[in-house]
Formats: sequence, structure tokens, C-alpha cells
Amino acid sequence: SPKQSEDLRSPICCIMGHVDTGKTKLLDCIRGTNVQEGEAGGITQQIGATYFPAANIRERTKELKADATLKVPGLLVIDTPGHESFTNLRSRGSGLCDIAILVVDIMHGLEPQTIESLNLLKMRKTEFIIALNKVDRLYDWKARRNSPIGMTLKKQTKDVLSEFNRRVTHVITQFKEQGLNTELYYKNKEMGETFSIVPTSAVTGEGIPDLLLLLVQWTQKTMVEKLTFSDEVQCTVLEVKVIEGLGTTIDVVLVNGVLHEGDQIVGPIVTSIRALLTPHPMKEIRVKGAYMQHKEIKAAQGIKIAAQGLEHAIAGTSIYVVGPDDDLEDIKEAAKED
Ligand code: GTP
Ligand code: MG
Ligand code: NA
Repeated sequence: SPKQSEDLRSPICCIMGHVDTGKTKLLDCIRGTNVQEGEAGGITQQIGATYFPAANIRERTKELKADATLKVPGLLVIDTPGHESFTNLRSRGSGLCDIAILVVDIMHGLEPQTIESLNLLKMRKTEFIIALNKVDRLYDWKARRNSPIGMTLKKQTKDVLSEFNRRVTHVITQFKEQGLNTELYYKNKEMGETFSIVPTSAVTGEGIPDLLLLLVQWTQKTMVEKLTFSDEVQCTVLEVKVIEGLGTTIDVVLVNGVLHEGDQIVGPIVTSIRALLTPHPMKEIRVKGAYMQHKEIKAAQGIKIAAQGLEHAIAGTSIYVVGPDDDLEDIKEAAKED
């Protein structure tokens, strides 16, 4: 019902995995952007955030003719680096999310940072879906752009299918060695016990409808309580950045609650929000672009905050909001413990 949807916040989905498995490229494919091609060395070195409104997800999943009724306003997706030196950022990303996508390259199988990511997810008991990416690289693959995976598999030759099945079986065995039951999502009869694998291609868009639908259905089915909107602000700093014309800003993920222009906030410093900015929907916050300015923003969102004194802010710490009944000194104490 519409009433219910007002009370649910957008789920936060973190995308994780070994370097170059195609995490950013998958997001580019959904967004219709070219973020990956603009990265130095093709390597992600920061946490990113992109908001996908429900309408875009509905559009992208319509060929599946499933009930893609979205009760959530959208999906906030957090991109993380796969390079081994960014363990702290993977940890931070996985700590923010409600659900994750673990990306595995079908040609490589499980790799060191796949296993590291897996262990972070296990530690926090975070639900996740496996995207078995780069299926288009299978020899003689016939691409059908943006197709649900079932329809494109039907078009492949016996040899391609046999190679596909061989690689899927190998990956399932590798996950088993990590103590995890996995299965292709359309064969998975025990979601929750057995983790689902969605074959995808970030180049052809194949399997992306399936991935989006599964994400939304699964979060709505199992996380309603966790996704019920709460007024208590939960907000983490991703980056501290100087932006021409704005001075030092912070990029934050607002997990819960509402932020208003003028709110008094406490991080390592006490200041007031001068401007609340977001990139446009389907745009990456870590890429310089046009911002939308807001009087208030409801979670979940990736937000750029402009305020005085933000050069003292620290990535990875929380931001607290001083409410009318709050004692500033108490909140400063809480912030110090971060
Ligand atoms: P890091 O963020 O640096 O860990 O990498 P990533 O996982 O975000 O991978 P990225 O998106 O940078 O892609 C790595 C390379 O793989 C790029 O050259 C992409 O074009 C290519 N690639 C990604 N996905 C696919 C795919 O589905 N098929 C093919 N053929 N190439 C892909
Ligand atoms: Mg990347
Ligand atoms: Na990369």
C-alpha cells in the first residue's frame, strides 16, 4: 500500500569483489554512464554511491514480467574498490549496507579479494547475491543486449552452454570450499540457506534485469523491519573533499533519518549544514558533476554536505545531529568515541 511505502527507506546495497571483476562497469551499465573509463588505471580508489529510483529499476526489469512492485523508494548502491590495498574501504562499505552483491569473474572464479569480501560479509551476517560476471567472454557467446539471463541462455549453442555449466559448477565448488552453499538463482529453492548466483555481463547488460529484480524482491521480502524508516540520524562520512566554489565538503551516506539545511552537526567538529547536495539520480557521487540542492533529505541517500570547518572531518566516522532536546556536550562525547 502507498502508506507502507512511505515508511520504508531505500535499501543500501554494497558491491564488492576482487579487482577488475567488473563492479564499476556493472553500475555503469545500469546507470548508462562511463565512470569506469575515467578511473586512473581503471582502478576504483574510493567508495562511491549512486541512487537508483524505483522507476528506473521497474523499467530495467520489465522484460522479466515479474511482480516488480517496489515498496521501497529506490536503491542506494555503494561501489567499493577491489584492489588489495583498500581493505579498509571494503570494510567500511560492507558495514553500511543492508545487502551486497559479490562480483565474481566467470573466467577467473574465486580470487583473494573475493574471499576477503566474503569473510567481511559472513562476519556481519550480511545477505548477498553473487553476480557471476563477464559471461559475454565465453567463447562464441551470442549476446542479446540487456536480456534476462534465461532468454539469452536459450539462444546459446550446446558447446557454449556446456562451457557455461562447467564454469558455474567450478565456482559453486569453490564457494563450497569456503563453507558456502550457492546455486544459480533460478534453480535455488532455498533462498536464505543457499546463496544465489546471477550470471551477468556488464558489457552486454545480460542478467542485469535478474540481478535488480532479485535484489529488490529479496530485500522487500526479508528486511521490512530493518528498512522501516527511523527518525534517528545514522550517517557516515565517505570522503572529505575540496570542491571549487564550495570549499571543503564531505560526502556522506545517510543510512537513516532526515538531514535539513541548517542542522547543527557534530563530527570531530561542531558546525551547521550550509548546503545539502546530491548528484542527480543514476549519477555517481564521487564523479564531479552537477548537484541538486535540497532543503531536507530523507535516508537512504549519498549526500554532499557543505559547511564551515569540514577540513577537520574524518572519513569513516559518524555525523551526529543536535536535536532541540539534545545536549551538545553528550553528543560531542559520543562523537569522540568513534
Ligand atoms: P576495481 O574497482 O578496480 O576493483 O575493478 P572493478 O571490479 O570495478 O572492475 P571494472 O569495472 O573496473 O572492470 C574491469 C575491466 O573489466 C574493464 O576493462 C571492463 O571493461 C571489463 N569488464 C567489466 N565487466 C565486464 C563484462 O561483463 N564483460 C567483459 N567482456 N568485460 C568486462
Ligand atoms: Mg571499480
Ligand atoms: Na577496475
